[in-house]
Amino acid sequence: MDELPLCFVLNGSSVRCVVSPDARLLDVLRGPCGLTGTKEGCGEGECGACTVLLDGLPVNSCLVPAFQVEGRRVETVEGVAAGAEARAGELLAVLNETGTAQCGACTPGVVMTIRWLRANPQVVDGAGLRALLSGNLCRCTGYDGIIAGARAVLASGDAAAPGLASESE
Ligand code: FES
Ligand code: FES
Repeated sequence: MDELPLCFVLNGSSVRCVVSPDARLLDVLRGPCGLTGTKEGCGEGECGACTVLLDGLPVNSCLVPAFQVEGRRVETVEGVAAGAEARAGELLAVLNETGTAQCGACTPGVVMTIRWLRANPQVVDGAGLRALLSGNLCRCTGYDGIIAGARAVLASGDAAAPGLASESE
């Protein structure tokens, strides 16, 4: 199959690459984009290890055809880790302190879900944290550390955490 050009905004920067028509967003991130922080677990949309934000909403990047992100905004865990804003570093520090990660396989996906929740406090107001994080499976820690980490992050700053729109424009 002929490869296709693809242009999208990745962690605030415009990216151009050429992808196979059947490539998944996960493949493009870990391959041509060289960002291996996003993990592949099940590859079937069940575990959440591959969670990224697409136009500000969490998606399983193993289920997103790459061509669907043309012209759209994608944020990965690298974008959170490298964010200039103090809150990004603060988020990762809080997760360390609360023992959210053990082997770390699920952690990038967990971080992205928490990132979404922090930018959208109205979502948290309407549902329990455990339910909101239920799409991120962890085989190591149980969920108490993850919930504690999320709660600490969400309590550690104001609701107006930097949004994707301001970072990518
Ligand atoms: S690898 Fe995508 S949901 Fe498991
Ligand atoms: S920390 Fe190992 S899978 Fe969650």
